[in-house]
Amino acid sequence: MLKLIPQPRKIDYKSRKKIPLNHIALGENQLSPQAQEDFLDFCHMPGGEPNIIFVTDNSLGEEEYVLETNEKIVIKASGAPGQLYALQTLKQMIFQCEGCLPQVEIEDGPEYKIRGFMLDSGRYFFPVSDVKKIIDRMALHKLNLLHLHLTEDQGWRVEIDKYPLLTQVGSMRKKTNFNHTPHGGFYTKKDIKEIVEYAHAFCIKVMPEFDIPGHSRAAIACYHELTCFPRDLPVADHWGVKHDVLCVGKESTMKFVYDVLDAFFEMFPDEYIHIGGDEVPKHRWDLCPHCQAKRRELGLKDSDALQFWFMNQVKDYCKAHGRQAFMWSWELEDASAIDTDLGFTKCGEMETGDRPFIDTSTDAYYIDLPYGYISLKDSAEHKVYSGNCLGVEGTLWTEYVPNMKKADRMSFPRIGCISETGWHGTCGWKSFSKKLDYYYSFLDKNGIGYALPDMANPKFPRNKLSVLWFERRQLAWEGLTNIMEDKKIEKIAKKAKE
Ligand code: ACM
Ligand code: ZN
Repeated sequence: MLKLIPQPRKIDYKSRKKIPLNHIALGENQLSPQAQEDFLDFCHMPGGEPNIIFVTDNSLGEEEYVLETNEKIVIKASGAPGQLYALQTLKQMIFQCEGCLPQVEIEDGPEYKIRGFMLDSGRYFFPVSDVKKIIDRMALHKLNLLHLHLTEDQGWRVEIDKYPLLTQVGSMRKKTNFNHTPHGGFYTKKDIKEIVEYAHAFCIKVMPEFDIPGHSRAAIACYHELTCFPRDLPVADHWGVKHDVLCVGKESTMKFVYDVLDAFFEMFPDEYIHIGGDEVPKHRWDLCPHCQAKRRELGLKDSDALQFWFMNQVKDYCKAHGRQAFMWSWELEDASAIDTDLGFTKCGEMETGDRPFIDTSTDAYYIDLPYGYISLKDSAEHKVYSGNCLGVEGTLWTEYVPNMKKADRMSFPRIGCISETGWHGTCGWKSFSKKLDYYYSFLDKNGIGYALPDMANPKFPRNKLSVLWFERRQLAWEGLTNIMEDKKIEKIAKKAKE
């Protein structure tokens, strides 16, 4: 019996016959040169007469394929995505069948349209070479959306011509949480083009994230007037939710936001864009004359309503440019103020009506969190939230993920579960655990790191220790800084009023 991740829709074993495989050569197809090379590199077999034959079948959906093994291997698909996914399945068959394939017919296609991976390149910068490795890992798992979190309190990671300081100043943090060395980096426009082209070669779309109006301290460090009470604020160098956010009461802020979006639209051609919206403390807005004037002008009841107005405005701008916008559902108490065409990356079971969403459950798919919080079993057992679900996404925040080694250890084997749920519709520990040994060997074969079983499903006290280690983030320290800054701003605001 074949073990495959993600599980295909249907496998038919046609006979007990084993089909010897001595060479590999691809017939005419619609795949990119990179995808073909990737497959041939993996197989590492002699070439010759084409023995993998591609048949165009327009009755199949864009990502569906039929794979038949016989004297030749026949792949039916309507285009490149189906062909690519057939080859990814075939890689796993070749790997476990050692020179002989079983005679099968596999009919396959995804349950969900979106299967994503989010990389937070804001906290730690991941160079293009790492992003390409992540794209390789995604392709192997039939994922099709790379969500790049590009703007953060701790770093601005993408070149914007109109605002050169964003990268000159905003891309560098003086230190990281517990490591007193500066850290930084950014993608040039050429880098972004390279990333987007590489992703497209593997049928992966790129959704950039411009996280606003919160998480904007790197931008504010460059252009102080973007915040309500302008002063010399550096790029954040420590974890935590920051109280200085964009001032949405000023026209100049809106111009900045639209200018940056224009630059994003130019660099990122795919239809999706993420506009953040998470973790926006309202302390500054409540005291800001600009924000309060705007709130009164719009007849809104409070600063929360002002944020929803802002998110809807930004969504409208994206929509006018042909883009589907998403925002985080994080801390959302009432989604009714959000227009129904603004999608969510949905972190919990909150009520979001019929708005479209991508399931990014904090209990299952926040793959940066220690396995003591989210075990592999939790990721496997997660049932997607009901409603207008477009798909699933593994979410790798990087405050404690400084490099690919750690990224792999946090992501795998959990991505196996996310891939299986996104592609097959369900995963489940019972069936996934049976494939786990095979999966580890397949990850090894691909040079991908992972957490071993005792780490991925930690027992007491290991689970508690992993959480404690993570919690060394010193929230108390961060909280104290915020309280002191809040007092300072309250004084300034009071003085201005007098
Ligand atoms: C989030 O977890 N801040 C979206
Ligand atoms: Zn303001």
